[in-house]
Amino acid sequence: MFRKLFISTLLLFSSLLLAANGNVTNDDPKPHGFVGAETCGMCHKTEKQGKQFTIWQGSKHAEAYKTLQTPEADKIAKEKGFDTPAAKTPECLKCHVSGYGVDASLLGPKFKMEDGVQCETCHGAGADYKTLKVMKDKKLAEENGLIVPTDVKTFCVKCHNSESPTYKEGWDATASWEKIKHPVPAATN
Ligand code: HEC
Ligand code: HEC
Ligand code: HEC
Ligand code: HEC
Repeated sequence: MFRKLFISTLLLFSSLLLAANGNVTNDDPKPHGFVGAETCGMCHKTEKQGKQFTIWQGSKHAEAYKTLQTPEADKIAKEKGFDTPAAKTPECLKCHVSGYGVDASLLGPKFKMEDGVQCETCHGAGADYKTLKVMKDKKLAEENGLIVPTDVKTFCVKCHNSESPTYKEGWDATASWEKIKHPVPAATN
């Protein structure tokens, strides 16, 4: 009895922690809608802009949902004690897709969970900052939900930590950022 109570309290507590974990936008007082990576990609794919969309598409983050659909992922979920397939297990989805657990009304028509860990996981939900007028004014964009994480060491470990069943001790945020960085070329600014 006590053990059961203890375990469910623990589960509740960890799911609360995890909810705060995967979704950066949860800290935002006003909830913004998610538009999905392809919408950001309409502007962020030219050479001049810095091809952020193409870089992201080539990264593991774009594959993060597909990874959950593999037999290997189902095996991990089972070992963790879940009786649902990994791609249907909230405790896996919260780190492997954008917008997980937010109110369905906040997911725009073009948003696709299948696109995995998308721009808006790191930059905030974009429905209110995605217009050219707002985007060109960084201050205005930030007032409308844009986030530009400045410290990868504290930011990336929201998901890259030992709660990930496949986490390898000593993961280096700075070195990993080098693999996925996507700057706007200086000369065009
Ligand atoms: C209509 C075109 C357009 C769309 C759609 C768009 N952006 Fe932008 N974005 C821009 C432009 C233009 C800039 C200014 C870039 C520059 O400095 O040259 C910008 C700047 C940015 C910046 C850099 C802010 C800074 O100054 O540090 C980020 C981050 C960003 N966008 C993310 C996103 C994300 C995420 C989405 C999708 C939710 C998105 N953008 C959708 C056009 C767009
Ligand atoms: C919302 C959770 C989340 C956040 C935040 C996050 N990642 Fe990831 N990342 C993942 C997941 C999930 C995978 C595994 C995807 C797969 O293999 O299908 C991954 C994989 C990676 C990989 C490829 C595997 C590896 O470890 O080399 C790199 C590189 C990476 N992330 C870098 C970063 C960096 C840098 C940041 C911070 C700027 C970051 N990630 C923030 C969830 C996240
Ligand atoms: C705290 C966030 C987090 C949670 C929760 C999480 N993952 Fe991941 N997952 C990651 C990150 C980050 C990576 C990439 C680096 C790593 O392995 O830690 C990853 C990578 C993976 C990989 C690829 C491993 C490889 O070596 O290529 C699989 C498979 C996976 N996760 C399955 C799952 C399953 C199944 C669950 C649920 C039982 C789950 N993950 C829960 C963050 C998470
Ligand atoms: C895993 C987290 C993560 C994802 C996913 C991600 N970004 Fe970023 N992005 C960052 C970080 C961290 C920085 C800024 C770091 C710095 O320079 O301080 C950044 C910077 C930027 C910048 C500004 C670059 C500059 O030089 O000022 C733009 C534009 C941008 N991202 C757009 C996008 C778009 C568009 C997508 C999706 C196609 C995307 N990002 C996906 C983490 C991410």
